[in-house]
Amino acid sequence: MDKSDVGLIGLGVMGKSLSLNMAEKGFKVSVYNRTDGGEAQVVSHFIKENRSFKHILGFTQLHDFVASIERPRKLLIMIKAGTAVDAVIELLIPLLDEGDVVIDGGNSHYLDTLKRCHYLADHGIYFVGCGISGGEAGARTGPCLMPGGAYEGYQIIAPLLEKISAKDSRNQPCCAYIGKDGSGHFIKMVHNGIEYAEMQLLAEVYAVLKTSMQSEEIAEVLSGWLATDLSSYLLDITITILKKRDGEHYVLDTILDQAGQKGTGSWSSKTALDLGAVTTMMSSAVFARYVSSFKAQRETFSKAIVPETPTGTLDVEHLENAYRFARIINHHQGFELMRLASVEYDWQLDLSEIARIWTQGCIIRSHFMEASVEILKDKPSFLASSPIFEKLLHLERPIKTSIFYALNHRVGFDAFWSAYHYWISMTTRELPANLIQAQRDFFGAHTYQLKGDSSSEYYHTNWNEA
Ligand code: 6PG
Repeated sequence: MDKSDVGLIGLGVMGKSLSLNMAEKGFKVSVYNRTDGGEAQVVSHFIKENRSFKHILGFTQLHDFVASIERPRKLLIMIKAGTAVDAVIELLIPLLDEGDVVIDGGNSHYLDTLKRCHYLADHGIYFVGCGISGGEAGARTGPCLMPGGAYEGYQIIAPLLEKISAKDSRNQPCCAYIGKDGSGHFIKMVHNGIEYAEMQLLAEVYAVLKTSMQSEEIAEVLSGWLATDLSSYLLDITITILKKRDGEHYVLDTILDQAGQKGTGSWSSKTALDLGAVTTMMSSAVFARYVSSFKAQRETFSKAIVPETPTGTLDVEHLENAYRFARIINHHQGFELMRLASVEYDWQLDLSEIARIWTQGCIIRSHFMEASVEILKDKPSFLASSPIFEKLLHLERPIKTSIFYALNHRVGFDAFWSAYHYWISMTTRELPANLIQAQRDFFGAHTYQLKGDSSSEYYHTNWNEA
């Protein structure tokens, strides 16, 4: 029997779609799924449903599955991130040979990926942590792939990954080797942090527009934006969502206002805190989801609120420009997080190349991401680019007036406010951090430096001394 080119473990939504994608691109694929926990029929159903694909072989025995794959084996694990990945790795190790490549395509934490890279290297096995974005549809037709880890392993799987990935505007694969260790999963995590903030901005835009418009009207406004430099996949799907009806009702109006999350947004924020990066927008988006989950409390407290008659009329053009402003800051913060991580871990991340592979296939693909490829070729960050800086200066007024409008109407506008606040602080010469330093020195003798002191010496004052 001909051996398969690649093996895939885990026939969840993403695993199924990737298997079909690989088979369609001409690869012979072996698939494996566990049979416990009510999953006894997963493999047989999948093979039956897709019998037109002649080159997909199904297995429920890990040993037979591994034996069916051509060496050096390429094995793609598509299971829930966490301890399950370690458990599968332990089962695989005795069945694999030196030089085989194990790819983890889940949303694993980058520090777990780092450990697994070293652990498998000790067994002579290449481990690649590959961020995958694009959801079910992307996985089926062309996802964005962010592989990091063992470079020799990446070279073995590159032709496969490049073939199944989305293609950019120059028909180049939206797949590139990111760097060593957990860097692939790191940038997928940041992708999701940016994704959280982009989604939250749209939710806040929706909330503001709802103060004076119906769903169809809101969709119309956003469609206008879609025809500009603001176009993005997330804006596009938001318009479709706004228009979706179920008989008399808009589906959106029937959905409970409690947002879920699987962790990558909060990981980004925690990591930013550890690395000293400022990611107020993605953090505000994570907290907005948390706040939404306290539905019962919100319902109780809201009864005590007697709304004032709001003042001010909505300027849609200002809101559009505020959105333009906030998106730039969101991307700036996300890419700064990657830049700082790159220094910390010596990954030598190519930020322009990351922007390039994010132009198609992934959830945060957008017109702005296209523009970012060029901007980040020349400059280390968005704020370091004069045209971007000038644009933000120019957009200060509309974001200010949009914030006032939202406040006047008691609409939570935290992601927008975070964007504006970051901009104010980053463009302020004198911050009140001198008082923080004095307070630290007062109660803890932590010392402080002096303005204009080229020696950079640290000083202490006896604050209570007369
Ligand atoms: C992607 C998405 C995806 C993400 C889920 C859920 O790039 O395809 O980012 O990987 O994990 O959409 O994320 P939350 O449940 O945390 O919102």
